[in-house]
Amino acid sequence: MTDFDSIRAAEDAFLLPTYRKLPLALVGGRGCFVTDITGRRYLDLYGGHAVAITGHCHPKVVAAIREQAGKLLFYSNLVYLDVRARAAHALSAFVPEGMKSFLCNSGTEANETALKIARRHTGRPAIVAMEKSFHGRTLGALSATELPPYRTQAGPLVPGTTFVPFGDLPAAEAAIGAGTAAVILEPIQSMGGVREADAAYYVGLRDLCDARGALLVFDEVQTAPARTGRPFYGAHHDVLPDLITTAKGIASGVPCGLVLASAAVAERVKHGEQGTTFGGGPLACAALAATIEVIAGEDLAGNARRTGDHLRAALLRTPGIAEVRGRGLLLGAVLDRKAAPVRDALLDRGIIVSTTEADPSVLRLLPPLTLAPEEADVFAAALREILSEDTRER
Ligand SMILES: Cc1ncc(COP(=O)(O)O)c(C=O)c1O
Repeated sequence: MTDFDSIRAAEDAFLLPTYRKLPLALVGGRGCFVTDITGRRYLDLYGGHAVAITGHCHPKVVAAIREQAGKLLFYSNLVYLDVRARAAHALSAFVPEGMKSFLCNSGTEANETALKIARRHTGRPAIVAMEKSFHGRTLGALSATELPPYRTQAGPLVPGTTFVPFGDLPAAEAAIGAGTAAVILEPIQSMGGVREADAAYYVGLRDLCDARGALLVFDEVQTAPARTGRPFYGAHHDVLPDLITTAKGIASGVPCGLVLASAAVAERVKHGEQGTTFGGGPLACAALAATIEVIAGEDLAGNARRTGDHLRAALLRTPGIAEVRGRGLLLGAVLDRKAAPVRDALLDRGIIVSTTEADPSVLRLLPPLTLAPEEADVFAAALREILSEDTRER
């Protein structure tokens, strides 16, 4: 198929209409750019939903996948694999000290697993989660998700979750009780409008969980690895959660999820307690190991910090932007108007960005962590022009 209309017709004829798609058919990508079927290039500040963290088709990741695909495409967790050992070795030097990992396939599966581990580890049934949270679409993760368009879709959900306002420590204190297995939160709520709390909140939650015997779970599916400028978010405030989940870009786009468990939690996980056919498979492990090596070798956490600060400063100088939320290269520009028409105008100019369900005035940026300051400037200049036009009525 060589034109947009026939590609769209073929997808729409057979796939359930679960996504409202951009009018774009992509055929390639390199670094921070993707190319559509007509040959037009787009600067990608969305990254396929925060996935392309090493940039599209990073040569080292592509080479690792190609090599592994030619050697052994799949074998399950029944056996040891050289490539899984390589991924484990790379991870052990990258994750917070002492943590061990469970490899799965997606963010929602990582969260399901973390919640199961928390319930089993504590012997308690209840979960405290945040208003405007998003943890995934399978029933357990959805049960800890409050964001209305998702949560309202498929009740009844798993009982036992209490929602409290994000950033409100007294509300968390009132909700965490003797039956609480875990407190789960995205350290920066992304779908919830790109919201971060102050440092005292994360430290306070850690103390509360310790005092009451509940586990602290950070859902870092969007914030890790490295997007906020540190490999994992807790390092910003010296907070070590009991469980961390991540997915998205951890294997640069090959499906892969990760649950990290503290030493105390990990030592009580037993044979047969968790499982997955595909998790930890050779292809995912080759991509995972290469991704971690690229992040560490190219200091992508440092680049997320530096280019993120550069981009934030440029946005704050732009008339029409009231506030910039987030950290590193997870940023939300709060506009003085609705974000969707601005997103569409940017797409017309060859730049892909995102919006959020929870806050219609937020333009959400989740670019590759390889983004260069000059690329950020191209975006900032286009946005400045668009905001100086009348995009309120589009
Ligand atoms: C914070 C967060 N948690 C969990 C998920 C679910 O991840 P997945 O789509 O890989 O199941 C997402 C997906 O957007 C997410 O943003």
